[in-house]
Amino acid sequence: MHLSHWVQPWQSLPSLLSLPIARALAEQLPPDASEHFHETFLPSGRPPLPGSLMQRPDLAMVLDLLGTYGPAAFYAGGNLTLEMVAEAQHAGGVITEEDFSNYSALVEKPVCGVYRGHLVLSPPPPHTGPALISALNILEGFNLTSLVSREQALHWVAETLKIALALASRLGDPIYDSTIIESMDDMLSKVEAAYLRGHINDSQAAPAPLLPVYELDGAPTAAQVLIMGPDDFIVAMVSSLNRPFGSGLITPSGILLNSQMLDFSWPNRTANHSAPSLENSVQPGKRPLSFLLPTVVRPAEGLCGTYLALGANGAARGLSGLTQVLLNVLTLNRNLSDSLAHGRLHPDLQSNLLQVDSEFTEEEIEFLEARGHHVEKVDVLSWVHGSRRTNNFIIGVKDPRSPDAAGATIL
Ligand SMILES: *[C@@H]1O[C@H](CO)[C@@H](O)[C@H](O)[C@H]1NC(C)=O
Ligand SMILES: *[C@@H]1O[C@H](CO)[C@@H](O)[C@H](O)[C@H]1NC(C)=O
Ligand SMILES: *[C@@H]1O[C@H](CO)[C@@H](O)[C@H](O)[C@H]1NC(C)=O
Ligand SMILES: *[C@@H]1O[C@H](CO)[C@@H](O)[C@H](O)[C@H]1NC(C)=O
Ligand SMILES: *[C@@H]1O[C@H](CO)[C@@H](O)[C@H](O)[C@H]1NC(C)=O
Ligand SMILES: *[C@@H]1O[C@H](CO)[C@@H](O)[C@H](O)[C@H]1NC(C)=O
Ligand SMILES: *[C@@H]1O[C@H](CO)[C@@H](O)[C@H](O)[C@H]1NC(C)=O
Repeated sequence: MHLSHWVQPWQSLPSLLSLPIARALAEQLPPDASEHFHETFLPSGRPPLPGSLMQRPDLAMVLDLLGTYGPAAFYAGGNLTLEMVAEAQHAGGVITEEDFSNYSALVEKPVCGVYRGHLVLSPPPPHTGPALISALNILEGFNLTSLVSREQALHWVAETLKIALALASRLGDPIYDSTIIESMDDMLSKVEAAYLRGHINDSQAAPAPLLPVYELDGAPTAAQVLIMGPDDFIVAMVSSLNRPFGSGLITPSGILLNSQMLDFSWPNRTANHSAPSLENSVQPGKRPLSFLLPTVVRPAEGLCGTYLALGANGAARGLSGLTQVLLNVLTLNRNLSDSLAHGRLHPDLQSNLLQVDSEFTEEEIEFLEARGHHVEKVDVLSWVHGSRRTNNFIIGVKDPRSPDAAGATIL
């Protein structure tokens, strides 16, 4: 792609420093960031301004190496591998060259569900895609339409998400625990969804979670790329270093090491000491639970209908966000910009608070409180971006809450 369509060599490509990165550099600098980290990200000794140009010839070299030697340049014991191992071990880490050479990316089939005539595809465990499908399956039975009041719909969405998020907290890497496949099959089943729906009271919030909840934590930050082409290819990619700047460790070649280990369940991490999940406990070779959910929608039958590519940041809050955006598009027939802009809620299972974003009105909050929800108003819960195709018309739309994402429609 790069070679056939681009005339610029990687080295000459500047990157524009985005507002969130500039803000993170000003406010969330990793503690103990190394001298090399400072030289790379704070060249003038101070956090750079948003929109300033940052040139990274070091990363251009890395891309060149990957272009020439392929994934082996990263994993097979070359300079890049040695540097990453050395950097991690220097900081007390235990990763080895063998960990890299043993690693392989798994290509897996997505989990899917049919929601109102559309196929929804999302990543399988250890990703929490099955919980997204489960939420949609539960909600389908409430027969939501534009005739149902928004307030009543919000109550059902909140109660449904409490169940779906509790289910998500029980997932983990199926290679290390075969019961996860059974949990997943339950989560994808419409019969199971009907059973769970039966526990939701139409007028009263459940005082405590219906199902046991394990610790739910995950990468707060995520980068999203969502592309739809006239050639019928759809790309949805969400990636994360977990925390901003990951572990804060940077190799001499400029690669930031992630802090994805935090996606495992660790005992006593949260204030409330929620139980750690055995399914997601740390183990050699295991992949951690992940709320990164690039999601694709297409008509279940035939070619006519809505096509979507969606992504979200915000860990569990992203799952809540995706569910609500899908409802807006597929149930309430809203256009994509409207669907992304509408206020969203998220039940925080650890604190038992129902978080709502700044788009919520006082009346909506009063309604929810009257139903027994403990509401906490926050500024933003998640950024959900998307791309949509209807017939031959393709659009890209960013979440209006995001200060600098971009959505483009190229005709
Ligand atoms: C690996 O690093 C050494 C020492 O820095 C350098 O001389 C060599 O060119 C590097 N090899 C590659 C393939 O980049
Ligand atoms: C690498 O894979 C081999 C063969 O599967 C296994 O015996 C070994 O323990 C693995 N090493 C690590 C560090 O995981
Ligand atoms: C939704 O519609 C179906 C079929 O008409 C009906 O059986 C079901 O009871 C309805 N669900 C609710 C919650 O009203
Ligand atoms: C729902 O909750 C209300 C208020 O607590 C209660 O009166 C009603 O019986 C409950 N409905 C069901 C079906 O449990
Ligand atoms: C972790 O939590 C358990 C029970 O939840 C408690 O017994 C233990 O003392 C805690 N450990 C630490 C280090 O706080
Ligand atoms: C989306 O729908 C809203 C409400 O119906 C409307 O105001 C807006 O113009 C629409 N936007 C686009 C891009 O069609
Ligand atoms: C969890 O902790 C928060 C404060 O950290 C507290 O407000 C809340 O009541 C606690 N929830 C439970 C279920 O203990």
